Amino acid sequence: MTEPPCAKLSVFIASRLIDVVEARFESAFDVARAKTNHPLRELKTGENGGDRDFDAILFSLDVQMQAEQIKALPATIRALATYSVGTDHIDLEVARERGIAVFNTPGVLADSVAENAIFLILGAARRATESIDLVRSRTWKGWSPRQLVGFQLSGRTLGILGMGDIGLRVAVRAEALGMKILYSNRRRPAKGDRYAAGFRASADELIRECDVLLLACPSTAQTRGIVDHALLAQAKSELIIVNIARGDLIDDQALIEALRQRRIWAAGLDVFAGEPDLASAYFDLPNVFMVPHIGSSTLEARIGMGQILVDALLGWQLDRPVDNRVY
Ligand code: GLV
Repeated sequence: MTEPPCAKLSVFIASRLIDVVEARFESAFDVARAKTNHPLRELKTGENGGDRDFDAILFSLDVQMQAEQIKALPATIRALATYSVGTDHIDLEVARERGIAVFNTPGVLADSVAENAIFLILGAARRATESIDLVRSRTWKGWSPRQLVGFQLSGRTLGILGMGDIGLRVAVRAEALGMKILYSNRRRPAKGDRYAAGFRASADELIRECDVLLLACPSTAQTRGIVDHALLAQAKSELIIVNIARGDLIDDQALIEALRQRRIWAAGLDVFAGEPDLASAYFDLPNVFMVPHIGSSTLEARIGMGQILVDALLGWQLDRPVDNRVY
């Protein structure tokens, strides 16, 4: 943990975090919490803290920091700390142009997100939605050899789109379950990379060979809508698609059609385009196992995410290099 410098940074907390994390910020910094659902407006109107000047803002995925919002920030704001690993809610280029440092939370949530990926893969493979519905409906007639036949993972192939820290941690877990690992990534494998032999140059090559396709890449201009009609047309009919990254990687209409027509087998979804207003057809598809963006929602990850940002801001104030600085 970094030693606190003498003068405390003044930090505006724009998103509600768990109590233990807010308490850590309160002891390390001079903080004020947002009082309304429009936290950034509070900065402009001086509602929060009166004429107080903040050095940094702590916020999460519920606060957009696009060009418009960044340009309207008070000039005293020199750092943005996002309580997330994803940064697609931030215009990084505009932050960089304005000399604003940006910090995020890589690493500390990777195990939790990887475990959630396995949970989604298993849930989709073992027909969790139908199973839960059946047993909770109180109409279950008892065990039968024909009931809810799913797939085992052992012996099947997992294709990971985006082999970063999280992708790698899923690979290790899936391999322990007996899966073969393939992946595709922007960066080609380096010599000695653990799964180098499973590298495929494109998503098209990957989907043709795998039984489970895991989306673990960031949402960028290159990846948005990557799961579309053309990609799905190349899938095996037993394919399971799992998304732990960002909803907009998927063209919802294309996936819904493929699932409805049973051209692919199932989906496990943690994230959705336009969440929380997800495409309503998902609710009617029994072969969709879905959860509400809970990948990093464990106590361990939540605390780790807070601590890495406390340390980042303290290090930044002391002009020290900070690993989780995005810009
Ligand atoms: C969650 O989706 C995150 O980006 O941390």
